[in-house]
Amino acid sequence: METDRRAFLATLGTAAAIEAMPSEALADALEHHMIGQLDQAVSAQTPPQAAGPERTYRRGVGGLFVSQGSSLKQLEPMPPRPTLLDFFKLRFAPANHVLQSATRAMKTGMSEETTLACLLHDVVLGLIKPDHGWWGAQMLEPYVSAKVSWGIRYHQALRFYPDPSVGYEYPEMYYRIFGKDYAPPPHIEAAYKYARNHKWYMEARLITVNDLYSFDPNAKVSIEPFIELIGRHFKQPKEGLGNDNSPVAHMWRTIANPDQPL
Ligand SMILES: [Fe+2]
Ligand SMILES: [Fe+2]
Repeated sequence: METDRRAFLATLGTAAAIEAMPSEALADALEHHMIGQLDQAVSAQTPPQAAGPERTYRRGVGGLFVSQGSSLKQLEPMPPRPTLLDFFKLRFAPANHVLQSATRAMKTGMSEETTLACLLHDVVLGLIKPDHGWWGAQMLEPYVSAKVSWGIRYHQALRFYPDPSVGYEYPEMYYRIFGKDYAPPPHIEAAYKYARNHKWYMEARLITVNDLYSFDPNAKVSIEPFIELIGRHFKQPKEGLGNDNSPVAHMWRTIANPDQPL
C-alpha cells in the first residue's frame, strides 16, 4: 500500500510542529495513519452493509470515553503515584453503584473481602463494558486476594441465574436491557456452571446479591467508610497504580489518561 507522504504530514500540523515531534511519536503517527488508510481501503472493497444505529460509538465503550451529557467532563490530572482512592475520586467518581453495593455488604455484615469485591466489581466499566467480569478481575488481580478477583470475574455470569437460597431473582431490569427471551451466550453459561460448583461460588454470588439493590438514585454514599478496609486488603503498589510494571499497569494508565491520542 502506497502512503501519500504529503497527506500524512498534513495530518500532523505545521512544519514547526512536525520538527518538534520526537521520532518515536512520528513513527507512531505514521503507523496510525497507515492503519487508518488500510482500513479505509479494505472497507471500500467490502459490499456496503445495512445502516447501523444513529449512534457514533459502540455500546461497549467505557463510560470514561463517552459523554454522559452534551460535552465531555474535564478530568483533573492524576497525582504522580496514584492510589486506588485517587482513582475513585478522580476517575471512577461518582462510583455510586459500586459504593451502594459495598455499603449494603457492610451493613448486612458480610466479610471484608466480600465488601471489597462489591466495591470493585464494576469499576472497569469506565474502561470497557463487554465481558466486564473478566476485564475487571484481570485489572485487579495483582492487588487483591485470589478470592476477590475470582468473585469479580464470575459475578458477570451469575447475574443471569437466580439463586433463591440467598434471595437472588433474575433482575427485572434485564428484561428491558436484554429482551424477554434473552439466553446468555455459551461462554456465560459455561462460566455459570463452573462457578456454581466452585468452593468460592458464594464470593461471586454475594456480589450479585448486593448488585441488585444498588441502583437507588437518591442514595448518599461515600468512599470514606471503606478507606481502612482498602488499606487492609488492597495491595497498593508504592510506585502508584499504572507505574508498577505489573501485567495490567497499562489498564490503569489508560484510565488515568483516557485523552491520550495514541
Ligand atoms: Fe457487573
Ligand atoms: Fe454491578
